[in-house]
Amino acid sequence: MTRNPLVQVRGLSKRFDVSPPWLNRIIEGKPRQLLQAVSEVDFDIERGQTLALVGESGCGKSTLARLLVGLYAPSQGEVLFEGANLHDTLAQPQGRALRRRMQMIFQDPYASLNPRWRVRDIVAEPLWVHQTVKTQAQCLQRVGELLESVGLNPLDANKFPHQFSGGQRQRISIARALASQPEFLVCDEPTSALDVSVQAQVLNLMLDLQRERGLTYLFISHNLAVVRQVSDQVGVMYLGRLVEMASTETLFSQPRHPYTRMLLDAIPKLRPGSQTRLPVQGEVPNPLSPPSGCAFHPRCPQATDLCRQQRPEMKNFQGIRIACHAVA
Ligand SMILES: Nc1ncnc2c1ncn2[C@@H]1O[C@H](COP(=O)(O)OP(=O)(O)O)[C@@H](O)[C@H]1O
Ligand code: SF4
Ligand SMILES: [Mg+2]
Repeated sequence: MTRNPLVQVRGLSKRFDVSPPWLNRIIEGKPRQLLQAVSEVDFDIERGQTLALVGESGCGKSTLARLLVGLYAPSQGEVLFEGANLHDTLAQPQGRALRRRMQMIFQDPYASLNPRWRVRDIVAEPLWVHQTVKTQAQCLQRVGELLESVGLNPLDANKFPHQFSGGQRQRISIARALASQPEFLVCDEPTSALDVSVQAQVLNLMLDLQRERGLTYLFISHNLAVVRQVSDQVGVMYLGRLVEMASTETLFSQPRHPYTRMLLDAIPKLRPGSQTRLPVQGEVPNPLSPPSGCAFHPRCPQATDLCRQQRPEMKNFQGIRIACHAVA
């Protein structure tokens, strides 16, 4: 499918058991309940590129992110990192070397930084874990370099997380992620918690780091304007499934899936000439009882009987991938 993929996702699914407690099931006769958070997802991420995932809250983006760095085990399918099964490799002794190569950056930098640690200890921890430094002096030197590489002052090493603004805290998380010299960064809504004015600064930093270090990104955001600026490819998810995948340029200039169009219509600036913003219509269905056929049919203006009965398969169509009966 692509020429030099670093990450390949094959038929990836994740189910969560959300059953009531065992005793309630027996006494109240309640059944076991499985929530299908991610279903049969396939894609490749080219080395040095950015794949963005978009879709409304609850569509499985964070679950997919965690599967991609090995924080969750797949229920079905697999993630390949440089052609090797990620989950199997992480379970083996050489898994530690692989873990170093992929890092995750979360939405809330404050929650992901230990408030009682000084910045130097936060950034230094991966250096010790992966044995990239041997002495305290080396460590301090390296922490200073890492802080500089994300636009902070080496003297910030002595401060605590609460002494920084939100944007600076996200820079600290990025410095910590870079400490293990990763090749693959999974960024789950990295700027969503930040003020609009600092979002662009953090995004520019991420783009500069990608250029300098040849990093590969999975970038998750519900902000399509941001996605358009940072990504090479975009995957649109709906209720755990990928419904459209295209190059960023194609997706924004020629969105084809009715759901992608609905998302784009909600942003006035993306469609030249159209001032009216059409709010996203309808609500995301309950994932415990997904609609029959195409899960988007209750909200889709183009839905037919076929859509209600039969789930559309993902197909290759004019250089994109799409799952919709009305296209192709
Ligand atoms: N650990 C979990 N246990 C049970 N259900 C979960 C868990 N994590 C996520 N879910 C459910 O899986 C679905 C996808 O969630 P998530 O991946 O967080 O979506 P997104 O990041 O796109 O908002 C949601 O219905 C959510 O409630
Ligand atoms: S398959 Fe049918 S319901 Fe689903 S998005 Fe396409 S037209 Fe709409
Ligand atoms: Mg999420």
